[in-house]
Amino acid sequence: MAILPIIRMGHPTLRTVATALPVRPGLPFPEEIQRLAGDMIETMLAAPGIGLAAPQVDVSQRIIVFRVPAERASGAEGDTALGNQVLINPEFVALTDEKKLGWEGCLSIPGLRGIVPRHVRIRYRGYDLDGDLVEREATGTHARVIQHELDHLDGVLYLDRMPDLGKLTFTEEMVHFTADALKG
Ligand code: NI
Repeated sequence: MAILPIIRMGHPTLRTVATALPVRPGLPFPEEIQRLAGDMIETMLAAPGIGLAAPQVDVSQRIIVFRVPAERASGAEGDTALGNQVLINPEFVALTDEKKLGWEGCLSIPGLRGIVPRHVRIRYRGYDLDGDLVEREATGTHARVIQHELDHLDGVLYLDRMPDLGKLTFTEEMVHFTADALKG
């Protein structure tokens, strides 16, 4: 396993639509994909972060890794703690039109945080490394990280989703924002 260099905003790979992987349902993905996913998990944990998409390590393929730490999970159904996850060719549908504002950061935009609207409840699916289909419903942090990482696969960054760039801040200056900032 290895920690991979993370590319930053401005690198063209972050603005490229990533390619889907060939899937043989029920059969494990090839060795190089297994290794890449393992390296992506190690890179995410070292950063540290809760999600990483392959384009962020300059691989334009539809692979994400993520986790939901207990301290970020509400414990509600669909928002419980999850260990390291790998999803290949993931997709999601919104289960409600309702969106909620929340703080996000991105390992490709270090040092900054912004307030981003995301669907509150989603259903997503994708393949794990064994080639098995994973399908889940998600809310809270779980739903937010999935939407953020899937955006990376389409060349979209969270800044593109911000309705108010006045709510973009360096992490150290977040103390100046109150809970009201999340009310729109
Ligand atoms: Ni990101």
